Amino acid sequence: MIETSDENTRLTPVTVLGLGPMGRALASAFLTARHPVTVWNRTPGRAGDLLGRGVATADSVREAVAAGQVIITCLIDYDAVRATLESSPTGWGNRYLVNLTSGEPAQARQMSRWASSHGIGYLDGAILTPTPAMGTPSATVLFSGAHDVHEAVQETMAATGGTTVHLGDDPGLASAYEVALLDIFATSVNGIAHAFALASAEGIAPERFAAFATGIGGLLPEMIQRFAQQIRSGRYPGDRSTIASAASGITHIINTAAGHGIDVGMLTAARGIIDRAVADGYGPEGLARLTSVLHTAGPEKPDA
Ligand SMILES: NC(=O)c1ccc[n+]([C@@H]2O[C@H](COP(=O)([O-])OP(=O)(O)OC[C@H]3O[C@@H](n4cnc5c(N)ncnc54)[C@H](OP(=O)(O)O)[C@@H]3O)[C@@H](O)[C@H]2O)c1
Repeated sequence: MIETSDENTRLTPVTVLGLGPMGRALASAFLTARHPVTVWNRTPGRAGDLLGRGVATADSVREAVAAGQVIITCLIDYDAVRATLESSPTGWGNRYLVNLTSGEPAQARQMSRWASSHGIGYLDGAILTPTPAMGTPSATVLFSGAHDVHEAVQETMAATGGTTVHLGDDPGLASAYEVALLDIFATSVNGIAHAFALASAEGIAPERFAAFATGIGGLLPEMIQRFAQQIRSGRYPGDRSTIASAASGITHIINTAAGHGIDVGMLTAARGIIDRAVADGYGPEGLARLTSVLHTAGPEKPDA
């Protein structure tokens, strides 16, 4: 049974399926923007302080879908989204599905086809923001999928925060941006953890190391812009630093880490790429050239 909400009647009713940290943050943002909000979660009892703010809780997916006009899924993965929606795949009328679950471009396209086969207007999305920023001006959410669906939900989804961008009609686009951006995050997290382990093995206090490490992080925005410009132009001048020099530098890291018994698997993989670039004759060129030696084979599975 849906417990009735508060006095909000004018704004689009929103349903949030999934009450993990991000699902709760989304529900909170819609409540703050004064939308009527209904929530459902596989495990009951996760609405927490949303309850005191006028949220309605639904006992079933069907009930939750019926209560909203814009239905948002924010679950652990696309399999969970599919399993959840399969329990209520019909009777959506003119409701819209906005899937903000992280996944792969092919999964987003498949989900879009599933929705289309049930007559449900579908928009995929990628949240580029941690939970505390959801609903604030610093939040960024990317969307992709049919233009008319985006137009229909745009005003409602503006409650998620400062920057909302529709990337195009291909439903896989938001996930494509997300996986490429997560690529930076995932490899950086490993790099940072490895650097702290190495510094610690050399007897450097973590806070002393952090003071200099943040300076390295500060170099990245300019480097990212320079990579974009060089990849676009197809010219990789080695006037600042070269791949040959990076080969030497990474060897020092590997030797020092190995000497302390620290795993060097990630670094030897990186050196393998650098070595391939040198073998291809790119040693004198800049580091952005590494992007052109990364393709090792065709796709492992079809994109569908
Ligand atoms: N947290 C962040 O900062 C952040 C930032 C950007 C994007 N995201 C994305 O937002 C999505 C949700 O993230 P999250 O942080 O809220 O938590 P999460 O741990 O990724 O997902 C938890 C949610 O998934 C549900 N769930 C798991 N397996 C399920 C299944 N088989 N069927 C139905 N529901 C299932 C959980 O329900 P139960 O409570 O029943 O287990 C819970 O509602 C993810 O795709 C994540 O990558 C999160």
